[in-house]
Amino acid sequence: QPPKSQMEEGSVLRRANCRAKGGAPGFRVAILGAAGGIGQPLAMLMKMNPLVSVLHLYDVVNAPGVTADISHMDTGAVVRGFLGQQQLEAALTGMDLVIIPAGVPRKPGMTRDDLFKINAGIVKTLCEGIAKCCPRAIVNLISNPVNSTVPIAAEVFKKAGTYDPKRLLGVTMLDVVRANTFVAEVLGLDPRDVDVPVVGGHAGVTILPLLSQVKPPSSFTQEEINYLTDRIQNGGTEVVEAKAGAGSATLSMAYAAVKFADACLRGLRGDAGVVECAFVSSQVTELPFFATKVRLGRTGVEEVYSLGPLNEYERIGLEKAKKELAGSIEKGVSFIRS
Ligand code: NAD
Ligand code: LMR
Repeated sequence: QPPKSQMEEGSVLRRANCRAKGGAPGFRVAILGAAGGIGQPLAMLMKMNPLVSVLHLYDVVNAPGVTADISHMDTGAVVRGFLGQQQLEAALTGMDLVIIPAGVPRKPGMTRDDLFKINAGIVKTLCEGIAKCCPRAIVNLISNPVNSTVPIAAEVFKKAGTYDPKRLLGVTMLDVVRANTFVAEVLGLDPRDVDVPVVGGHAGVTILPLLSQVKPPSSFTQEEINYLTDRIQNGGTEVVEAKAGAGSATLSMAYAAVKFADACLRGLRGDAGVVECAFVSSQVTELPFFATKVRLGRTGVEEVYSLGPLNEYERIGLEKAKKELAGSIEKGVSFIRS
């Protein structure tokens, strides 16, 4: 009898080959920071995604435990765990999509920018690994501050000569998920029937919900607009305060991350009309990065949509958002350049 580990690896390979032979669409996905508050439920939900054939779970702690646990789920994806920096390259090699929720979360009283000191270095190291091992992978960046970590990733990829702006996406899906929920509450609708574009970035005033473009077309009183804008912009802080020192949004974020990753995978598969909001390289404003609706396809971001008609309230919000975003983007860029 071969040792158990060999038998397990053999069965894993048989399953992976079997899917490939069957011609079922199967993508290889890595989660970096997979043992964390977001990482664990995200790993569970990605293991349930039929578009995923191989799931790599990487973290600097507890990756074997999370992997053992998730690997017992009787879904198609083959799961492998990777622990510590020396296994980063193995975790990344051959991946189609890399999702990054690695890094420290906020505590009450902190801004997302307060996380820059620690998370900037983490994102830099992980992106250096991506540039080396899977430069063609789509990258979904969740680690905060997203407004700075996306420019950091872009600079790392530029330095390595692998930058493809279509493949780097900052995940702002949670803002859309929250906006749909809060707007649906006000309108008395099912949130699944509501679509709110949220543009700009992912921190405070840079989170700009476009309530004039809500679907189904709806009108709001000024009081409702003030309430909704404030609640959507401060949704993250609402959770940080409710968790009272135990971290920030993890479960709703894992839900949002899977919704977004699934859209990226459907795009890679060649589905038509896959459109979501994301913080990407953009020419919609004078800033180099901006979140708007984008169309996802076989090569990543295939179209970046313009803002559409804004009302006076939204135009004022846009100016505030751009002012703060410019500083956050510059901070990320100079972290790598200087
Ligand atoms: P967490 O502390 O629970 O988990 C983070 C995980 O990252 C931990 O398991 C940790 O071991 C791991 N990690 C740390 N350094 C690493 C490294 N060098 N390589 C790989 N893994 C590493 O935090 P969380 O609640 O999961 O949040 C993670 C990040 O996501 C935070 O920065 C948070 O602010 C951010 N976040 C973003 C959004 C968004 O909408 N984009 C929403 C929620 C949270
Ligand atoms: C969120 O919006 O929930 C995340 O960015 C986490 C945070 O710090 O608020």
